[in-house]
Amino acid sequence: MSEQNEQNQPISSRMNPFSEPFRAFIPVGWAPYSDELPAPTPASVFTPARRTALSSAFPGERLVIPAGGLKQRSNDTDFPYRPHTAFAHLTGLGGDQEPDAVLVLEPTDAGHAATLYFSPRAPRTDAEFYSNARYGEMWVGQRESLAEMSALTGLDCAPISTLDDALAKNLGTIGLRVVREADAGLTSRLDVLRTEAGVSEVVQAEADTALELWLDASRLIKDEFEIEQMRHACAATAVGFAEVVKQLPEAIARGRGERWVEGVFGLHARHAGNAVGYETISAGGDHANTLHWIRNDGDIHPGDLLLLDAGVEVDSLYTADITRTLPVSGTFTPAQRKVYEAVLAAQEAGLAAAKPGNKFSDIHAASIRVIAEHLHEWGLLPVSVEQSLDPETGGHHRRWMVHGTSHHLGMDVHDCASLPPAEYREATLQPGMVLTVEPGLYFKATDLLVPEELRGIGVRIEDDILITETGNEILSHHLPRTPDAVEAWMATLLPRA
Ligand code: GLY
Ligand code: MN
Ligand code: MN
Repeated sequence: MSEQNEQNQPISSRMNPFSEPFRAFIPVGWAPYSDELPAPTPASVFTPARRTALSSAFPGERLVIPAGGLKQRSNDTDFPYRPHTAFAHLTGLGGDQEPDAVLVLEPTDAGHAATLYFSPRAPRTDAEFYSNARYGEMWVGQRESLAEMSALTGLDCAPISTLDDALAKNLGTIGLRVVREADAGLTSRLDVLRTEAGVSEVVQAEADTALELWLDASRLIKDEFEIEQMRHACAATAVGFAEVVKQLPEAIARGRGERWVEGVFGLHARHAGNAVGYETISAGGDHANTLHWIRNDGDIHPGDLLLLDAGVEVDSLYTADITRTLPVSGTFTPAQRKVYEAVLAAQEAGLAAAKPGNKFSDIHAASIRVIAEHLHEWGLLPVSVEQSLDPETGGHHRRWMVHGTSHHLGMDVHDCASLPPAEYREATLQPGMVLTVEPGLYFKATDLLVPEELRGIGVRIEDDILITETGNEILSHHLPRTPDAVEAWMATLLPRA
C-alpha cells in the first residue's frame, strides 16, 4: 500500500514525514484570507437560463453533472485538468476548475434548486495546506472558499463531504440521472444507490443517456456569450497562425520543423488562452495526407506545403478549429495552386449551403460534389460524378477526401457529437449554430492512380462559421483563403529574401 497523507491521498514516498514542531509552526504567521469576494464570471449571466432549460426538461428528477477528477498520467503526476463540457456549460467555470466538483439540480415545487458541491480550500491549520499535492495551497495555489465559489458562479455551494448524503436522499421516490462519463467513481456509487432503490440497470442507463443527449443538444445553438468567446478563439488562433508564418525560416533551418510550428502555435495558444483546443496537426508535404497527423516530427522543406490545423481554446474553454495550407516558401507551385483552388471552390460551395433552412448534411453534399467534379475533370474518377456521389453504388471520390466537411464546434472541437443523425447530420441549420466548413483533397505520395505532379500534395481549408438569419458569418475571417491572398499575407510576414 502506498503512503497516505492526512486526507488519505497517496503521497510520494519522496515526501519526508512531518514533525510535530513543523505542524505547530506551519499554520501561524500568514496574512488572513481576503474577505473581498471575487466578481462573478462573465458566463454566470448566461448559465441560469441554461440550467432553467435543463430543469424544464427533467421535472421532478435529481440531475447530477460532475466535473470529473484529475486523470493520472503516472504515479503522482496528472494530466492537465479540464472539466467535463456539460459541467463547464452549466456552471460557467472554465480553465482548470474544478476537479471533483459536482453540480446537482435538486427537484423542488418550483423546478430545481442548483447546488455546486466541491472541496473548498482547507484552513491553514489543516494538513491539506502543506501535505496534499493535488489540492493543498502550497502545491496548487489558493483555491476558493464556499463563499468565493458562490460569488464566482452565482450558485449555492456546499462542501463535497455532504454530497453522498444529498444524493442518497429519497431515491425510492424520485428519479436520478447522472452524466455517466464525467466521473466513473461517482457513477458507480450512484448505480449502487439506484439499484438498492429498485431501479434496474436498463432504466438507469436509459435515463442517463437521455440526459447526456439532451445536454449535447442544448449546446447546438450558442448564446451571445458563447458566440463572443468563439470570436475571441478565432482571433487568437489567427494570431498564432501569423506567428507560425514568421517562424517558417527557423522551422526549416532547425529540422523537425513540424514540431517547431506546433510549439510556436502552442506558445500563443497557452499565452492567449487556456491551451490548444485539440492536438495541433502540423503536416509538411506528404504528411498532410495523414488526416490526423499529430506526431509532427517531420522536417519542413521550402517548396512543400504546410497544412496547419490548429485552434486556440480560450479560458472559457471555447475553441477555434482552423486549417490553412500554406506554401512554405510563400508561393504556390502551379500543381499546388490547382489542388488548392479545387478545395477552395468546394469550400465556397459548402459555405453557400450553410444557411438556415438547409440541412447540416447539405453543406457536405455541396462541397463533395465540387470535389468529385474536379476529380472527374482531372480524369481520376473511374465513374461519372453522379455515380460516384451515389452512396450505394459509388463513393470513389472518397479515396481523396474520406472525411466529412463539417462538424459543430464549441467547447468541444467536435461539439455535440453524441447526437443521433436525426439531430445532427439530418437536422435543419438554425441561427446561432457554430460549425466548421473544411473540405480537402489528399493525394498520397504512394497513390499511383494520380499524376506524379499531384502526388504528395494534401490541402485542407477549414473555417469556423456562425449560422445567421440569412446565411452565415465566417468567424475565422482574419485569415486569408484565396491563394493570392495567402501569398500576399505571407509576404507581409516572411522575412524578405
Ligand atoms: N482538427 C480536427 C478537425 O478538423 O475536425
Ligand atoms: Mn474540424
Ligand atoms: Mn481542424
